[in-house]
Amino acid sequence: MASDSPFQSKSLYTSNIFFLFFLLSTNLLTLFFSSSFSICSLKSLSTVATTADLATPTPGLNLPEAPTEDTSDLPPEFLAFASGQLLPFGYNINFDSNTIYPAVGQACTLFPDLLSRFISYKVNGSCPDDEFLAQRLLLKGCEPLPSRRCRPASNANYVEPYPLPKSFWSTPSDSSVVWTAYKCKNYSCLVNRKKNHKGFDDCKDCFDLQGNEKTRWGKGKGGGLDFGVDEVLGFKKPGTIRIGLDIGGGVATFAVRMRERNVTIVTTSMNLNGPFNSFIASRGVVPLYISISQRLPFFDNTLDIVHSMHVLSNWIPTTLLHFAMFDIYRILRPGGLFWLDHFFCVGEQLEEVYGPLIESVGFKKLKWVVGRKLDRGPERREMYLSALLEKPLKNSW
Ligand SMILES: *[C@@H]1O[C@H](CO)[C@@H](O)[C@H](O)[C@H]1NC(C)=O
Ligand SMILES: *[C@@H]1O[C@H](CO)[C@@H](O)[C@H](O)[C@H]1NC(C)=O
Ligand SMILES: *[C@@H]1O[C@H](CO)[C@@H](O)[C@H](O)[C@H]1NC(C)=O
Repeated sequence: MASDSPFQSKSLYTSNIFFLFFLLSTNLLTLFFSSSFSICSLKSLSTVATTADLATPTPGLNLPEAPTEDTSDLPPEFLAFASGQLLPFGYNINFDSNTIYPAVGQACTLFPDLLSRFISYKVNGSCPDDEFLAQRLLLKGCEPLPSRRCRPASNANYVEPYPLPKSFWSTPSDSSVVWTAYKCKNYSCLVNRKKNHKGFDDCKDCFDLQGNEKTRWGKGKGGGLDFGVDEVLGFKKPGTIRIGLDIGGGVATFAVRMRERNVTIVTTSMNLNGPFNSFIASRGVVPLYISISQRLPFFDNTLDIVHSMHVLSNWIPTTLLHFAMFDIYRILRPGGLFWLDHFFCVGEQLEEVYGPLIESVGFKKLKWVVGRKLDRGPERREMYLSALLEKPLKNSW
């Protein structure tokens, strides 16, 4: 695609410049350059990690020898994790380095207050009960979050999940969840919030497994924008859709339905005012706690199907959406399916921006259904697109 395409924006460049500018004011500049030019890092890192650190997990021991910049504003426990650490056996040919740089989001240090609250705990103690703070930091771009050396909050009266297959369609015990981060403090509140709570909540009615979830993508679906799982699986030879991903999959009803057809689906979800990840796990399918900004943690050409409903839409910055579409293409195997379910945008955005953007990635169109989105009133001129796309089997490169 040409660099002057309509959905390129210059914000990418501005944010890069901003990032570099920020790095200049912190020790991270050293880390950034030393990871690119590992020879330079040999000297400054020679005092970093020793095997002794493994025996004494004390914060602050792993500080690189003070280079020219000031690191005093970064919490020592953050530096202990994220600074370059020497490999105990020296140069490693696979790493092509003697140093490992544990992964944290580029933006973590842009939010020093949140970061230092997140990283404040006693090593080898209990972590603060701070899910809300952690998710805020993550959604701002500190993703992955730094690892912590403490034990996460968990319900003191934890109850084990129901056995399969009962767990698929049962509301789990309230005691399987730490409720601090959410307005509701039990599942009956979540199940009833559609009737009882005013205002918007992400996936407001999803926790009610006897409501809309019961029929979503199920038997008899297949008209208009609502494709059914059996209809979609019918596009490929029986049994050849085996593994996949649901992006922003709510309470993972899609994964459960696919599991009932012997397809293994991993579901990404945030915990936006509800314990989505705990609930998904209680149902007996795999939750993956990553946001839409993160590179998908799968290798190229591996998954048979990727599904996403309501999440990939016009609220996402267009450049980020463009990257996300290519990342989906990357992880799908040749012949794999991308089910873009109820993508929404406004009026002419579909023809002018999103249609061309999606088409440009290189999928073959198996289904492409456009319809009006009326739930917030026709005057908003909102549109839905449901598409079933296939990565070419040959010459997909
Ligand atoms: C770490 O915490 C555990 C559990 O509280 C305790 O048994 C252990 O002695 C602690 N280890 C160190 C090195 O402090
Ligand atoms: C659930 O929480 C609500 C308030 O959020 C409370 O009124 C209700 O009694 C609770 N129900 C149960 C079964 O604990
Ligand atoms: C799923 O796999 C099991 C065991 O291999 C098999 O008995 C069952 O018929 C399969 N179900 C479907 C819907 O394919």
